[in-house]
Order: sequence, then structure tokens, then C-alpha cells
Amino acid sequence: MQALQRIMKVFVTRRIPPEGLAVIKQSGVTLELWDSDEPVPRAELLKGISGAYGVVCLLSDKIDAEVLDAAGPNLKVISTMSVGYDHLSVEEIKKRGIRVGYTPDVLTDATAELTVSLLLATSRRLIEAAAEVKNGGWSSWKPLWMCGYQLSQSTVGIIGLGRIGLAIAHRLKPFGVKKFLYTGRQPRASAASEIEAEFVSLSKLAEESDFIVVSCALTSETLGMCNKDFFSKMKKTAIFINISRGVVVNQDDLYQALATGQIAAAGLDVTTPEPLPTSHPLLTLKNCVILPHIGSATYSTRNTMSVLTANNLLAGLRGEPMPSELQL
Ligand code: NDP
Ligand code: DGY
Repeated sequence: MQALQRIMKVFVTRRIPPEGLAVIKQSGVTLELWDSDEPVPRAELLKGISGAYGVVCLLSDKIDAEVLDAAGPNLKVISTMSVGYDHLSVEEIKKRGIRVGYTPDVLTDATAELTVSLLLATSRRLIEAAAEVKNGGWSSWKPLWMCGYQLSQSTVGIIGLGRIGLAIAHRLKPFGVKKFLYTGRQPRASAASEIEAEFVSLSKLAEESDFIVVSCALTSETLGMCNKDFFSKMKKTAIFINISRGVVVNQDDLYQALATGQIAAAGLDVTTPEPLPTSHPLLTLKNCVILPHIGSATYSTRNTMSVLTANNLLAGLRGEPMPSELQL
């Protein structure tokens, strides 16, 4: 394996798990770290990346033309500790011949597990019910109290039957789901056959699903895709779950749909902005469960993500194939 030189500066935009940092440190490059759990301020990002050969970034770092210009001509590799890459200006990166590493697959299981937890917490009203125990609202066992919706015999619609979408479906199937629908840019025959899912239009998926899970990538096509028109087609008893990116959903339209009873409930692991201001109207609703983007947040997955991110970076700096390179 080619030794890397100390003159090669690598900028890491946040504290990441020590496993990943150790891999970078052992390589012989000069490591510059934004040593904080909070995002690097833009001015510090522009300063830190200047002259760097490689950068390790997170989904909260917008890597655009300004950042790439600040980096200068040395920059060979961007390694993001995420599978989503909507924070990267791909066209600008491609124009400059920079390679990109990312972390598909290794976070699929953790994210699918979280999605199932969020779906059940939302449909069976776990957060609301637990609050009632604490605030004295639990007076007795009541036949009509705290009822929710069940997965057995239901139709589940998946928007984006990719790695995570399919892993979610596999976990939901044993609950007795009657039918899976999915939508995307084109049918995914092989994945769909594993769960006997039917490819349908977005409208049909909205109309027929009891549970809708959004697990697509954020693109110009999916931006704002779940809007007033979409929610108006959903069943009044349906549950909406989003684990992709916040801006796939028009949050004002979602608020209206939830507040007026157009749909039953929503569970969101992602919002716009992140963090969601504590004064946001969605937080006033009992039928909306909001999590702080924790899909991949297990110790083992975050460790593995950090090591993959480091190995992508180093392979890129050495001019070797990366373990997980984004095809630009
Ligand atoms: P994949 O690339 O495997 O899947 C992405 C899916 O998006 C594909 O099935 C693709 O389907 C679908 N898609 C693309 N365009 C559209 C469209 N116009 N309409 C509907 N579907 C579309 O990625 P992963 O499954 O690994 O990850 C998916 C996303 O999940 C990430 O991009 C990220 O944003 C998010 N994520 C969130 C996490 C969290 O913590 N909440 C954790 C990890 C990921 P097709 O190509 O057939 O259109
Ligand atoms: C990703 O990787 O894109 C998630 O949003 C965080 O793990």
C-alpha cells in the first residue's frame, strides 16, 4: 500500500468516531480536525479546507463552488460520512475532477430498524400514550382510548425502493402486511420480487396505502414531492413516515393535513430545517412524532461509517479504487 505524505493535508469537518480518525492518523497525512460535536462554521470550513488534498465532511456541510474554490487545486477527494449526498454540488465537483466517497449499505440495517420503530411509535401513539401515564391522563382501561392503526392486513407504500426502502419492507412484512406498493423513476423488478411489491404511480400509492414510507434520495424531482396534492389523495386513516430528507416534504402542507384530520399521523426522522425550531407548529401536534435525524445512530453503525469514510478518503488520495465511490 502506498505511503501517504505528511505534506498532504486532510481536513475533517467534525469529531467523528475515534475508529475512523485513527485510520486517517495512521496513514501519514497531516490531519486538521474541527474538534467539535457541532457543525463547523462556514468561515472555518473555508479556512480549514484551504490547500487540503482531502476533506471528510458530513451531511450538514454544504460543499459547493465557494468551498471548492477555497480548497484550491490540491483537492482530490471528498469523503462524506453519509449515504445521502444532496449536500454536495455534484456538477461542480465533477467539473474539477474530484472523487467522492460515501457510505452506502453499512447504515441500511440501522436506518431500517429506526424506521420501523418510528412507524410503530407513530401508528400506536407511543409518545402520546407514555405522556398520559406521566401527566395523569390515564384514568382507567377505556375501550375507545389511545387506539391507533395496525400493520396486519395493511397496504404499505414505499417511495424509493432502494437499499433502505427494501430493508424496511423486509422488516415490515412479518407484521402481516397484505400488500406492498412502491414508486420511483422506474420499476425495480429484482427488489420488488423479494417482497412481491407492485410498481405504481405516486398518486395511486397515496390513494391506496395505509402506511407510506418515504425512503428516496433528495433530488430536484423529489424536492417538495409530498405536498398538498399528495396529502389530499391519502386516506384519512393513513400514516405518513419520512426518513429521507426534510425538504422532500412540504411541511406547511403536512401541518395542514395533520391539523385538519386529512391524514391520521406522521412520523419524521428528518425535517427542514434541522434542527427544527422548538416553536415550529408541527411540534404542537399530538399526531406528529419528530426525531432528530437519528436513522443511522447506533454505536456500531457510526463506527463502521467512520472507518469506511476514512478508507474511502485514503484510497482516493492514493489513486486507488475506493471501497465505496460515488459514480459521478
Ligand atoms: P438508494 O440509492 O439505494 O435508494 C434511493 C431511492 O430513491 C431509489 O430507490 C430511487 O429509486 C429513489 N428515487 C430517486 N428518485 C426518485 C423519484 N423521483 N421518485 C421516487 N423515488 C426516487 O439509497 P439508500 O436507500 O441507501 O438511501 C436513501 C436515502 O435515505 C438517502 O439518500 C438519504 O437521504 C436517506 N437516509 C436517511 C437516513 C436517516 O438517518 N434518516 C439514513 C440513511 C439514509 P429509482 O432509482 O428507481 O427512482
Ligand atoms: C445519511 O447517511 O444520508 C443519513 O442521513 C445519516 O446517516
